[in-house]
Amino acid sequence: MKTIMIHSLHQGEGKTKIAKELAGYTQLQGKRALLADLDFITEPHSRALGLPSSPNLQDLLQEITAAAKEKPYFAVQLGEEKLEQYLLTHHSGLKVLSSENAKHLAEDEEIAQKIRTVVRNLKQLPYDLMVIDTDSSNRDYNQAVLEETDQVLIVMDNFRYNVKDLILYLHKLQDMDYSTDNFKIVLNKVPDPVHVTIDEIEKETGLPVIGIVPVLDKTPLPPQETENVYLNVANPNNVEFIAAIKKIVDVL
Ligand SMILES: Nc1ncnc2c1ncn2[C@@H]1O[C@H](COP(=O)(O)OP(=O)(O)O)[C@@H](O)[C@H]1O
Ligand SMILES: [Mg+2]
Repeated sequence: MKTIMIHSLHQGEGKTKIAKELAGYTQLQGKRALLADLDFITEPHSRALGLPSSPNLQDLLQEITAAAKEKPYFAVQLGEEKLEQYLLTHHSGLKVLSSENAKHLAEDEEIAQKIRTVVRNLKQLPYDLMVIDTDSSNRDYNQAVLEETDQVLIVMDNFRYNVKDLILYLHKLQDMDYSTDNFKIVLNKVPDPVHVTIDEIEKETGLPVIGIVPVLDKTPLPPQETENVYLNVANPNNVEFIAAIKKIVDVL
C-alpha cells in the first residue's frame, strides 16, 4: 500500500478537500483507496463525504488502548477483519476512517503512540492507496504520522507568508533528525506571480511543487452542510480540477 500524509502549516489551506479528492479519484480509477481522517482537532467537524461519523477514529483508539494493556503498542495488531469494522464505505467504494471532534485526545500522553499504532495497523490492509488527512499542528502525533508514511504532501494557499513558515517548519523537523526528502508541495490556488513564483517556492523550500489545484467555482456547489457528500472529481464538468488531481496522483 502506498501511504500519503496530507499536511499544512495553517488551518483552512485545503488539506481535507485535497485528501478527499485524491482518495476519491484513485478509487474512481478502479483502485482500492482508503481515506483516514486523523484530524480530531478541527471545529466544526464536518463528516467525511456525508457518511455517518460512527464508527470512527475514537472508537478505534479505544480498541487500541484496550489492546495496549496486554502488550506494548508496537505489538498491537488488530487484524484485517477487526480493522474493517471501523471503516465506512462511500458509494464510490472508497473506504473511510471517520473522525469526530475530540480535542481532549491532544492531551493524552500516549496519543503519538496510539496514532502511530493506528497508521501501522491500517497499512496492513489490502488497499492500493491510503490518504491520511491531518490537523495543521506540529505535534508529536503528526510527527508519528509523517514517520510512518511514504510521502508527505504540504498543501499551501497563501504563499508569501507560508513559504517562510514552511522553511521554519522544515528546519525544525531536520533539527529533530526527521528526513524531509519525501515532502512535496501542492498549491491549492493558482499562484500570483506578483507575490512569489513556483521557481522561488521550490528554490527557497528545496521541495518540488507537484501540482496546482484550481479554485472550484462556488456556484454549482451544493449547500455548505452537504458539501462533503460531494466528490468534485466525480463531476465530469470539473475538467481542470480533475486534471490537476490526476497529475498529483500520477506523480505520487
Ligand atoms: N480548490 C478549492 N476550491 C474551492 N474551495 C476550496 C478549495 N480548497 C479548499 N476549499 C474550501 O476551503 C475551505 C477549507 O478547506 P479544507 O480542505 O477544509 O482545509 P483544511 O483541511 O486544510 O483546514 C473548505 O470550505 C473547502 O471546501
Ligand atoms: Mg481539514
